[in-house]
Amino acid sequence: MEEGITRIGVSLPKNLLDEFDRIISTRGYSSRSEAIRDAIRNYISEYRWLESEKGEVVGVMVVVYDHNVKGVSDIIIDLQHDYNDVVTSSTHIHLNKDQCLELILVKGKMDKIRGLVDRLSATRGVLNVKLITAVKKFE
Ligand code: NI
Repeated sequence: MEEGITRIGVSLPKNLLDEFDRIISTRGYSSRSEAIRDAIRNYISEYRWLESEKGEVVGVMVVVYDHNVKGVSDIIIDLQHDYNDVVTSSTHIHLNKDQCLELILVKGKMDKIRGLVDRLSATRGVLNVKLITAVKKFE
């Protein structure tokens, strides 16, 4: 094995891997490993960006989740109450039979908002959390 390369084993749901393979084949990746390395780099750069944001922001959080997972809807509501100093409102969209999308408008300290992103991301049944922010005030 190449110097500095670590081999890892990952367990994935079949449908997630099928979709990943479908996308990487249309994008011309030569190997699954290369595509996974790119995906991890994207994840790291996105999270680094999130970590580097500071101060007061307004934004929208887009949360996609599987509402069949027991308790997930309640947890998402409870978290919004826990963070009511930064959550201004939310809209629920039933995406399809299984999945829901919650749009959460946020306004306040980035540190606090980041905490909500982390809690939502770590919730079982939550498939994806995206935060789109705008600075509150242009200097
Ligand atoms: Ni729904």
